[in-house]
Amino acid sequence: MSLDIQIQQNAAARSDQEVAQILADPGFGKHFTDHMFVAEWTPESGWHRARIQPYGPFTLDPAAAVLHYAQEVFEGLKAFRHADGSVWTFRDQANAERMVRSAQRLALPVLDPADFNQAVDALIKVDQRWVPDATNEESLYVRPFMFASEAFLGVRPAHHVTFSVILSPAGPYFAGGIKPLTLWLSDDYTRAGRGGMGAAKTGGNYASSLVAQKAGMDQGCDQVVFLDCAEGRFVEELGGMNMFFVYDDGRIVTPALGTILEGVTRSAVIKLAEVRGHQVEERHYEISEWQQDAASGSLVEVFACGTAAVITPVGKLKWTGGEVTMGTEPGKLTMELRQALVDIQYGRSADNFGWTRQVC
Ligand code: COI
Repeated sequence: MSLDIQIQQNAAARSDQEVAQILADPGFGKHFTDHMFVAEWTPESGWHRARIQPYGPFTLDPAAAVLHYAQEVFEGLKAFRHADGSVWTFRDQANAERMVRSAQRLALPVLDPADFNQAVDALIKVDQRWVPDATNEESLYVRPFMFASEAFLGVRPAHHVTFSVILSPAGPYFAGGIKPLTLWLSDDYTRAGRGGMGAAKTGGNYASSLVAQKAGMDQGCDQVVFLDCAEGRFVEELGGMNMFFVYDDGRIVTPALGTILEGVTRSAVIKLAEVRGHQVEERHYEISEWQQDAASGSLVEVFACGTAAVITPVGKLKWTGGEVTMGTEPGKLTMELRQALVDIQYGRSADNFGWTRQVC
């Protein structure tokens, strides 16, 4: 099925000068483009009323199910401007497919990945002047999301669902450049359990991370590390990023999938490391391994990754009663993998994996 997308231009679109001012220092998640994509779903009509309209607030009934029962999923991907001015998405197919899995977990309707891509492409084309160039590693962050918009307080999958896409020009997720993060190990909160929704990209996972994130920030840390809920022994992920551990023999360990987000950047990092000859172990990783191996020096680099955060070095882990330092400077392999990734994204090196796709 393909969507019949109606386009209504924004008569109050920002001037080229205003756009240029925003793109000069976009920050992360603060500015939004002139248009948004919206489509609706009902059991009778499937996906319908696909449209691009001026960016602006939704009219939502106070009884809309998402406001009460959090039936919602979202995605995050980026579009990059190459040196010749063309605009390319990175691994949008992987995001579209993950949204299908997230939607199934949250009992939301499936949006065909082809329709997801059609919506994203159409919106980027309309707002293409908002795609920053490669200066300061800026990009256009694409946020597709789907939520239960039916006004009904009974607890069951909603019969009216809205899918939308918004665009936000983005600089680095962490203000202050590529500096090693300090992480706080949460010993009182977990984010996912067996049979739960830890692998789904749904707002609830991020909402449940916030109290732990705040506790970490109160300890002077940037991000929080979650352990498994059953034994409190195995590293899962950060509030919004996957984790990698680099050993002095070149081995790299990353927590296995199951209760963690199936990160699109995570799987790209695994490929990039493997083609460089690194053995990547996807397995349970004990917090005691991290603490002991960092202290002994065999664990030489730790980094976190995600679409928004790209690849971000981790310098220190703190917990109640202790801390261990991995390094005060970004690790060598961390930065090599980061460079390899962004070079593909900005078209500066060959994309041998078929990850990038030209939109306009
Ligand atoms: C992303 O990396 O795109 C996410 O959705 C995570 C969020 C912390 C911004």
